[in-house]
Amino acid sequence: MARIGIFDSGSGGLSVYRELEKTLPQEQYFYFSDNAHCPYGEKSPLYIQRRARYITDWALDHGADVIVVACNTATAAAIATLRAEYPDVPFVGMEPAVKPAALGTRTGVIGVLATAGTLKGSKYLNTRGLYEDDVKIVEHVGQGFVELVENGMLDGPEAESVVLASLQPLLDAGADTIVLGCTHYPFLQGIIERLAGPSVRVIDPAPAVARQTLRILETGGIPIGQGPASLGLKSSGPIEPLLRTLRLFSDKTPILL
Ligand code: DGL
Repeated sequence: MARIGIFDSGSGGLSVYRELEKTLPQEQYFYFSDNAHCPYGEKSPLYIQRRARYITDWALDHGADVIVVACNTATAAAIATLRAEYPDVPFVGMEPAVKPAALGTRTGVIGVLATAGTLKGSKYLNTRGLYEDDVKIVEHVGQGFVELVENGMLDGPEAESVVLASLQPLLDAGADTIVLGCTHYPFLQGIIERLAGPSVRVIDPAPAVARQTLRILETGGIPIGQGPASLGLKSSGPIEPLLRTLRLFSDKTPILL
């Protein structure tokens, strides 16, 4: 059984845990929500690197075999630093799903919703550079999306108007594929799909991250399966948002750490 550490600025990374649990159902998970420091989107890379180090040490204290950086913004700001400073620890980061979007678009326009930090990061800019000759890529910060998820406002007129303000420019540009470049956004996928209409495909990269975690565990020879499965939760601020988001898709009883 593998011990898998996961972290995010808040409860968004649970969209990654949800997929990990399907791919690797019998492992021990430890999740850290850094919601006392949320959102990460507008914070400096140095600030996020400091938080990422602190949380990595926490995960290693819990015996993590692998650490999933279930946050696009933290991946952009800190994963290279983490890999350099903890050379023996396998880290899995978030990949903006530009490739599947570029391969699948019919209009030749793809939209990316992410935080400002992710859109400025070299990881995203490099990925973008690989595809921008073939497709038009339009971006928008999901302004206020993280706050909607942290506050459990996943539907209703207010959530709709917040989502539409950032989605409409992408639709106006002709995007038929929307990449969710922040792990909080899949919890708004229902509302995004409803507002965008049936001709628009919305891509959540979490299943690909779960498959990558499985590959890393296999390559590292870390035993998987056999259980008993568990989920430990830790939060640097109030735990309620995390529990509320977990209850959206799971009836598991977590261990509060
Ligand atoms: N869930 C995050 C991400 O994937 C962080 C959002 C934020 O804290 O701004 O980027």
